[in-house]
Amino acid sequence: MKWSAVILAAGNGVRMKSATPKPLHRVSGIPMLKYVSDAARAAGVADITVVVATGHAESAEFRSAAGDDARLVVQTEQKGTADALLAAREAAAAADAILILYGDTPLITPETVRSLISEHEKTDATVTLATASHAPVDGLGRIVRDQSGEILAIVEQEDADDETLAISEVNAGWYGFDANWIWDALAALRSSANGEYYLTDAIEAAVRANLTVASVSVREPSEILGVNTRSQLAMAEATMRQRQRDYWMDQGVTLIDPAATYIDASAILAPDVTIHPNSHILGTSTIAAGCEIGPDSIVIDTTIGEDSRFVSSHAEGATIGKRVSVGPFSRLRPGAILDNDVYIGNYAEIKNSSIGPGTHVGHFSYVGDAELGKRVNIGAGAVTANYDGKQKHRTVIGDDAFVGSGSMLVAPVQIGRGAVTGAGSVVTHDVPAGDTVAGVPARPVGDTPGTRRDDSPDHHPHNTDHPQPDQHETAARTESDAATGDRENEKLRRTL
Ligand code: UD1
Ligand code: CA
Repeated sequence: MKWSAVILAAGNGVRMKSATPKPLHRVSGIPMLKYVSDAARAAGVADITVVVATGHAESAEFRSAAGDDARLVVQTEQKGTADALLAAREAAAAADAILILYGDTPLITPETVRSLISEHEKTDATVTLATASHAPVDGLGRIVRDQSGEILAIVEQEDADDETLAISEVNAGWYGFDANWIWDALAALRSSANGEYYLTDAIEAAVRANLTVASVSVREPSEILGVNTRSQLAMAEATMRQRQRDYWMDQGVTLIDPAATYIDASAILAPDVTIHPNSHILGTSTIAAGCEIGPDSIVIDTTIGEDSRFVSSHAEGATIGKRVSVGPFSRLRPGAILDNDVYIGNYAEIKNSSIGPGTHVGHFSYVGDAELGKRVNIGAGAVTANYDGKQKHRTVIGDDAFVGSGSMLVAPVQIGRGAVTGAGSVVTHDVPAGDTVAGVPARPVGDTPGTRRDDSPDHHPHNTDHPQPDQHETAARTESDAATGDRENEKLRRTL
């Protein structure tokens, strides 16, 4: 049987009181509509039409939630679920059977869709619907059966009398329809008391025409939750988060306190990851085996390599290697790339920078638009001054360089391999490999106290791997005798 899925997602969602269309409200980080279209796809229905309101067919968010392969068709006026389905008539014309799903039921599983499809095929029914008993019933259509258990009708809550309201079996909003029957049947429906055309009335029409109406009951009643209100959105969120936690624990992840762990449905964790309380693994984050995350951490769209430790810190759009340690209290911003064995301590911020293997950024530093080599040491409070008020500039620091505490590296600037900047230096010129600079602005520090060639920082020799002694400068500017020079040099040495 050739199936075509139609997902209804054009409703106004007025009860959400939101500027965001209801199907795009997120559950566990993913728009509700995406769960529904993914469930159809996972159940083997590749032909998918999503019915959306005017203006939404061009929306990138709807496109991404529906999937690139889905068709978006517009219901111009929100005249009810039956009218919404009619909007997909041409799009779904080639199918033998139509699978209808509602865009506000994010907890739907592919298993339920599969069981609906197989029941429909097995019974050769005109209509097959998914129902649940012992689920929260508020707002849902009640399934009315006769004494022999045959379905007679679906009665909407607002139209139900007390006896009907007491029925515990409710309509999930997922159906299989015979494609040869449904379109004309929809066109023949009359509007309900509130002027809307109800898809649920098609069931009664099938019964009246003596056609087969079959049903499947969903295995896990919580699946059928339809989100009409913020409170139902929170219920869906709670159920989905628990599903994620159960799944990852099954996969070998330790959650120290599952209730205080938030894992988006799009995140991936390896076995033997341990997540400590109050941690959020969000977006497309991937955490490799042996990592310990948290407590109190937020990891968004970030990849973390094996055996890394991430404590009380925040990362977004970062890439972290193996055996890296971050935190507590640090922040990795988009484009932070940390190689293996990097150590980021407390109060460090790394943005759009690559940090080479074994490099340490231990204490309250800002590293932005920088490239740090291997085994670099960034001292406490060192900062890349990357912004001149108009533009961002790059800082490049070579392998084994030692950036002293409180150094200000005024970009664009390069610190050569093995170079040293003294504590508190303000580095405005490139520092050749192996050189030592200090002071404000930073100047080369000679090996021999008191030897200096020139006061001006502009005369600093560039790109010299092995500078000659006479090329070295001291920071001393005005001393008139050797004793003063020695004293100044000694001070500079002590700042290193
Ligand atoms: C609907 C069912 C109810 C069922 C419940 C399951 C009807 C008449 N009622 O009620 O029996 O128990 O879902 O969650 O079908 N939509 C459109 N265009 C419209 C109206 C709605 O596309 O003009 C879409 C909505 O975006 C939504 C879905 O259809 O995704 C269901 O509409 P909604 O208004 O939420 O129906 P309920 O009152 O929840
Ligand atoms: Ca609904």
